[in-house]
Amino acid sequence: MELNKKSIIGVVGAGAMGSGIAQVAATAGHQVVLFDLSTETLERSKKSLAKIMARLIEKGRVTDAEAKSIQERITYARDLQAFDQSHLIIEAIIENLQVKKDLFAKLEDIVSAETVLASNTSSLSIASISGELKKPERVMGVHFFNPAPLMPLVEIVPSLISNKNVSTQVFELVKSWGKKVVLAKDTPGFIVNRVARPFYSEAIKMYEEGFADIATIDWAMSELGGFRMGPFQLMDLIGHDVNYVVTETVWTEMYFDPRYKPSITQKRLKEANWFGRKSGKGFYDYSENASQPTPDMDEVKGKAIFERILFLLINEAVDAKFLGIASVEDIETAMTKGVNYPKGLIAWGEELGFQNVLNGLNALQERYGDDRYRPSVLLKDWVKEGR
Ligand SMILES: NC(=O)c1ccc[n+]([C@@H]2O[C@H](COP(=O)([O-])OP(=O)(O)OC[C@H]3O[C@@H](n4cnc5c(N)ncnc54)[C@H](O)[C@@H]3O)[C@@H](O)[C@H]2O)c1
Repeated sequence: MELNKKSIIGVVGAGAMGSGIAQVAATAGHQVVLFDLSTETLERSKKSLAKIMARLIEKGRVTDAEAKSIQERITYARDLQAFDQSHLIIEAIIENLQVKKDLFAKLEDIVSAETVLASNTSSLSIASISGELKKPERVMGVHFFNPAPLMPLVEIVPSLISNKNVSTQVFELVKSWGKKVVLAKDTPGFIVNRVARPFYSEAIKMYEEGFADIATIDWAMSELGGFRMGPFQLMDLIGHDVNYVVTETVWTEMYFDPRYKPSITQKRLKEANWFGRKSGKGFYDYSENASQPTPDMDEVKGKAIFERILFLLINEAVDAKFLGIASVEDIETAMTKGVNYPKGLIAWGEELGFQNVLNGLNALQERYGDDRYRPSVLLKDWVKEGR
């Protein structure tokens, strides 16, 4: 079976991601079946799509007729049996291995032998989700970013067992939806959630050590570094419940490699339910009339903050290439399209000089005596080769 425009797309879970993915597929012209255990969630998802469509009509992005047919193409289902005609099913339910495994096992008994199954998981391995299924070769990761209709990146993650032809078809199909699609190895955090870790953790480390306050670090990264948001602003937006758990999962899955070590400061925010914007308080206070910290706009300190974080990010990108997580081109696309970095990290390293990046990491490693700053073997090789 070939996946094409006529393929029926199933989406399991009508939360933030599932609703967005259903919108993307319906906008691309597919019939979509959207399932959730909760009727209330399905109703919320339907209402929210109607609101989004009304806004798009207002902005002149879609016509009344287009908006109507996009909405009509989505069927809201409360019975898994509704997936019996689907050609590709993307799962976006809670991030829990056992729950996902149970869901896929149930789906296998409902769908046709050729239906492709995909998971939108951020942190679980695709092999762990699919390994015990009857036909694990038809399962892969299809990792969208939040909000799915707006963020262009999708990481396609075949597992060890995935059929190559099937993953190529899914790759091409998602690309035809107007997405920037990259191929990632089934490893913790795939590309973006692995390479981006130092943006958060090194910022928190500098804050914990009293080197700079949150406003100064955010200022350095956005004003001097050109990032759209500073790390503390971004963590508050993502939510510490989500961001901390991703860091902790990547770290544990990497056998506690110090490069990915989470921070107690962020763990405490999560434990206190200070999730950030959504709870009204995180690193910053979002209550009305709350006073906001102001940055100490010291250019020398700002440059030191920016370079320290950037050197670690470049090191992660180079190491992802070294370990075959993805191609250089896909690593660059992932970081510019998935998290809006102003430049591809490897190109940025080239611009700064890999020798300077290596010197920076070596100095940090010597000062801290910590493997956290361990330079990638490939970075050292590139410097040796005079790159
Ligand atoms: N939120 C993000 O930024 C983001 C980004 C990329 C990937 N993801 C991944 O996408 C998945 C969903 O995340 P989300 O943020 O949309 O979560 P969410 O909590 O907004 O939505 C999850 C939905 O799944 C439903 N659900 C739970 N168990 C179910 C089951 N057994 N069968 C059917 N429906 C079930 C819930 O009712 C809920 O509506 C997770 O695997 C997450 O890791 C999230």
